[in-house]
Amino acid sequence: MDQRGSFTSRIGFILAAAGSAVGLGNIWKFPYETGQNGGAAFLLIYLALTFLFCYPVMVGEISIGRRVGLDAYGSYNKLGGKKWGFLGLYGILCGIMILSFYNVVAGWAFGYFLEISFSDLLTEENYGAFFGRYVVDFWDNLIFSLCFMFITAFIVVKGVQGGIERASKIMMPTLFVILIALIVYSLTLPNAMDGVRFYLLPDFSEITLETLYSGMGQAFFSLSLGMGALITYGSYVNKQQNILKSALTITFLDISVAFLAGLLIFPLVFSQGQSPEQGPALVFVVLPGIFQAMGPVLGKVVGGGFFLLLCFAALTSTISLLEVPVAYMVDQKKVPRKISVWILAALVFILGIPSMLSQGAVDIFSSLSFYNDKSALDFVSEVFSDISLPLGGCLMTIFISRRWNSKNMSEEIANGNPRYKGSFIESYINFTITYVCPVLLGLFSILIIIDKFFGLDKIL
Ligand code: TRP
Repeated sequence: MDQRGSFTSRIGFILAAAGSAVGLGNIWKFPYETGQNGGAAFLLIYLALTFLFCYPVMVGEISIGRRVGLDAYGSYNKLGGKKWGFLGLYGILCGIMILSFYNVVAGWAFGYFLEISFSDLLTEENYGAFFGRYVVDFWDNLIFSLCFMFITAFIVVKGVQGGIERASKIMMPTLFVILIALIVYSLTLPNAMDGVRFYLLPDFSEITLETLYSGMGQAFFSLSLGMGALITYGSYVNKQQNILKSALTITFLDISVAFLAGLLIFPLVFSQGQSPEQGPALVFVVLPGIFQAMGPVLGKVVGGGFFLLLCFAALTSTISLLEVPVAYMVDQKKVPRKISVWILAALVFILGIPSMLSQGAVDIFSSLSFYNDKSALDFVSEVFSDISLPLGGCLMTIFISRRWNSKNMSEEIANGNPRYKGSFIESYINFTITYVCPVLLGLFSILIIIDKFFGLDKIL
């Protein structure tokens, strides 16, 4: 049996990579980050960073993968020698750790979907407060995230074509349909336009240094960059594909879903007179209250639809996160795919237990004394994504320009795109990857580390 596999078509790859990109990062994290960082101004910064800097990084990542045709470790190792192989291992570690907390949040979404659609929860008195009770309960967390991990593993076992590609082809279009239907509804609500104004009319006085590096962190997370997920997916892409075009489509799909999620959530929030600055709870606390106000029948349909959407989005992302270490085990350790998947899924699930217990179930995990009394879930998410992804991106661009050589990258991109060499976009990508990204991402990484561990406002 072919253990590696490949995507059967351009659209298959695009949907799988866009499926990886579109996830909780777009529908859960992006709205609350935007809400906390001043609305429209954050949206603009985010879009600018995505196109100017993240797009070239994405092209670089996919090129490395397609050039070698191996997992993240194998790719760095082959192109740069053992010393650079560590960067692949770093990515694999980040993937495992990100998945460990991501799966917990995905489990919440799954639990919400089931409870809203199939129980009488909406008739409960204070539905909005449900979140508080729900995330504290260890067994709820355990069961729902176990289910989610199981579904993820089940798809990844089926391999690249039969599992990942097929699942993405069904789930991605469905996601768009649900999203648009919900937006149409939310825009008809009273005061919806206040939400639209907050979201689309920028107030530039809101922009600070923090807006900038939060925007960059968010863009990296949302596009699945900085840890080799796209190296891994790139390794399943054939040489006739135009990487530039595919990466552009993936970027567009990703920002569209983030943009649309904002367009759904802010009108809902403002129509209920709520504050947009509620942080991670925004989607889980504010929205259920709103669904309840719609009455038991409509609330069930709209609320159930929303959380189903969130589950779909999360699932195509958990698949890609699990695929990174799985590809490593299959390519490097020659462990059969099926065994690799189940071993890793179990490992990730166990590593997620502190995050599951961190929302009030167990005190030591809920408030880590060495990390400003934040929760274990915050710790894992901030260290392995907010900090590690831009840092990983910085190291990757250093690898491309100082070790692999941007000439070789150009050659790889020119496969499937004969007019690439000598074009303006080639100069732009090479310049950005050689000079801008290493410096900018390095600087942002340092700022984020200082901020997360010591608090930037205390220093400046
Ligand atoms: N991009 C996904 C989201 O927005 C999360 C994700 C999936 C991811 N794979 C990744 C993030 C790889 C970083 C790296 O929800």
